[in-house]
Amino acid sequence: MTRARTVPDRETTAGKLLAASRKHSFDPEIELDWAVPWEPDTFFAPEQISSLYGTPIWNGLSRDHRIELTRCELANNLGFGVWVETLFVQMLARHSLGFDPRSAHLRYALTEIGDETRHSGMFSRLLVKLDRGPYTYNLVDRTATDLLRALSTEPLAFVAVLFVEEIFDALQRIGMRDETIQPLSRQAFRIHVVEEARHMRYAREELFRVIPRLPRVRREALALAVAFGIGLVERCWRTPAMYAEAGLDPREAARAAATNPAWRTLLQECVDRFSPVYDELGLITPVSRAVWRAQGFTV
Ligand SMILES: [Fe+2]
Ligand SMILES: [Fe+2]
Repeated sequence: MTRARTVPDRETTAGKLLAASRKHSFDPEIELDWAVPWEPDTFFAPEQISSLYGTPIWNGLSRDHRIELTRCELANNLGFGVWVETLFVQMLARHSLGFDPRSAHLRYALTEIGDETRHSGMFSRLLVKLDRGPYTYNLVDRTATDLLRALSTEPLAFVAVLFVEEIFDALQRIGMRDETIQPLSRQAFRIHVVEEARHMRYAREELFRVIPRLPRVRREALALAVAFGIGLVERCWRTPAMYAEAGLDPREAARAAATNPAWRTLLQECVDRFSPVYDELGLITPVSRAVWRAQGFTV
């Protein structure tokens, strides 16, 4: 059995999150200044979170070309966001069927579905405005997410949601604080960071209630799902089609990103933020740790 962290009961957590949602929820249709054109000569996301930042390819690009790369990378992240959020909405809606219809726990799940629906609407509209992407991911990763959607259990859904939200959160916080990038990007990052903080608490506390009671074999399976999940996210972040649209050699750029020390360090820092919680949940096991390592991460 894993060490069980004491967390509030479901109804207490959900009640607090519902109250916070009433105070700080955003309608991107109104909050974002959609009519304002993109600023000239301005990065779409911070340079230091570009997958090629600091590589010989990056160093050889003009400022305009680097800006264009961040435009395509933002489009990729938004497209990925729509994909995974739509997946989460499906999983959350399915698992909500089992919740007590009178419970705050159900009402918060429905609120989260509403949040994600607005986020994906915002990402979709930004994609149109960017006029870049969307990009297709490789068949293996698409099949893996199809399986996740079809076969996910409630703990697996929350594990997957929390883990992707943590990575998005870490990167978007960097963007939210960078005053030199496109104002529209910053506004979108800020809305997403604020609302996702609640989703992460909902998932995290639920996992602390559920996982310690799971049989060891199921915990091991979840640990492996997280370990393979990091590889999927990392590959999607450097999908070759994105580099092709940015005017780069797609294979060469994807390879350079895979071994880019700056990019790997940034991802490892994201992992370091959430891996202690996964460890506490018993979701870092000797077997899963080997899978993390094989993909270039330490946990
Ligand atoms: Fe979201
Ligand atoms: Fe979320």
